[in-house]
Amino acid sequence: MKEHNKLTTASGKPYVENEDSQSVGPRGPLLLQDFILHEKMAHFNRERIPERVVHAKGSAAFGTFTVTHDITKYTKAKIFSNIGKETKLLLRFSTVGGEKGSADTERDPRGFALKFYTEDGNWDLVGNNTPVFFIKDPKKFGDFIHTQKRDPYTNLKSPTMMWDFWSLNPESLHQVTTLMSDRGTPYGYRHMHGFGSHTFSFINKDNERFYVKFHMLTKQGIKNFTDAEAAEMKSKDMDFAQRDLIENIDKGNFPRWDMKIQIMTEAESRTYHINPFDLTKVWPHGDYPLIDVGVIELNKNPDNYFQDVEQAAFAPAHVVDGIGYSPDKMLQGRLLSYPDAHRYRLGANYEQIPVNRCPFATNNYQRDGQMRIDGNGGSAPNYFPNSFDNIVVDQSYKEPAWTLESNVAGWYDRNAEGENDHYTQPGNLFRLLEAEQQKNLISNVVGAMSGIDGPKRMEIINRQLCHWFRADPRLGMGIAQGLGVDVDPAMMK
Ligand code: HEM
Repeated sequence: MKEHNKLTTASGKPYVENEDSQSVGPRGPLLLQDFILHEKMAHFNRERIPERVVHAKGSAAFGTFTVTHDITKYTKAKIFSNIGKETKLLLRFSTVGGEKGSADTERDPRGFALKFYTEDGNWDLVGNNTPVFFIKDPKKFGDFIHTQKRDPYTNLKSPTMMWDFWSLNPESLHQVTTLMSDRGTPYGYRHMHGFGSHTFSFINKDNERFYVKFHMLTKQGIKNFTDAEAAEMKSKDMDFAQRDLIENIDKGNFPRWDMKIQIMTEAESRTYHINPFDLTKVWPHGDYPLIDVGVIELNKNPDNYFQDVEQAAFAPAHVVDGIGYSPDKMLQGRLLSYPDAHRYRLGANYEQIPVNRCPFATNNYQRDGQMRIDGNGGSAPNYFPNSFDNIVVDQSYKEPAWTLESNVAGWYDRNAEGENDHYTQPGNLFRLLEAEQQKNLISNVVGAMSGIDGPKRMEIINRQLCHWFRADPRLGMGIAQGLGVDVDPAMMK
């Protein structure tokens, strides 16, 4: 006879009945003692955890990173130690501003978050599909994100809030230009690049520091929706990108990305004409060409979305030996923010959840807390130093000392003289686009800015138009004409 598994309560008691509640007579009230009814309802009520405060809608897959080129002269990170070396990874894609149930084809940057399970710990490279960002100081992050979410009164998305913020923060122009281009509506997740965006450090075996930027270039080729196609897809399939990813991996059509890097020496970082730690700027490839590193392949869908994707926790603070931080203020701000968000969203012991757990050794004196399930250190000592165990601090992992430019603490204007060219790079980006793409960019901006309303409408439009004009007069003029703004009086303000 075929063996059956018994349906049980969470504590293992076999169910006697799973479809009818215990009642007094067939049409009478229910009995409090029908514990199974309570357990089912109570667990259901607790199924939701807080969604990510940003990047709530996402899709992920497991895969491998394979080294194809030798970069050991720049870094001693074991993940790069020899050609052919493979490391398991998780890659989660996401939109940014929408809720967990929002449409995949919204105009928005896309998250590109990697977790590499290396033998020196998990390395998280938590980037986007764009090499730059809207702001350059983390103090502005919450304010910025509020403008991307819902208006407190109307509970609607508000182009007025968005453009008010962007126009008051001209450092956003580079990212806004990218967002308004066709790259703001990628065709799913397989046809876009990923970027570490920040500048990080590499440290080699001689303890020399280099600055590095990471690029993940899609091998599927760039493919975008136009604004109209993206809007149409919203009504056809809200989950287009999730479906596209899971179906392709299920079919064995594994998406791949080339990992490449840009390298800047410490000495160059002191004299380069662009602040190398400013997240609103790229390092032009003419000055810092791309160097080949390896290939990322996604080849396994998670068996259970909630377990492996919703509970995944990525943190820019998670670097490994041979990879370090940089003085990029945004990166510095993110180092603290993510684990804080994870503790709120998943609890203090979130690193024990299998998708987050380092598959190699972890040893420390953290104990207890809700949902501790890894043995909790057993009977071993829970303090350091002690005379009983053999756990040591390995000083050989220490990074070389950092020589900083200044020893004067203060609040420095992020857009002070020398840090205020918000226009050259977005202008170059516009001029690089083909005619059709320039047309789309202008029409996307016009469409988006047309949504600005209320008493400050013209003030916001004029302020933002000045930024577009300063990036490129043709871009400014195209947008002004599209909005029906009489340019001369506007520009006099
Ligand atoms: C100071 C600036 C920033 C702050 C404070 C911040 C904060 C956060 C927070 C709190 C989350 C949710 C984390 C969670 O609940 O798991 C998040 C998610 C994310 N952020 Fe940021 N963020 C910042 C800038 C950036 C930048 C510059 C990038 C890309 C270059 C980025 C990429 C992402 C991605 C990809 C996710 C989703 C990770 C995942 O898939 O779970 N963020 N951010």
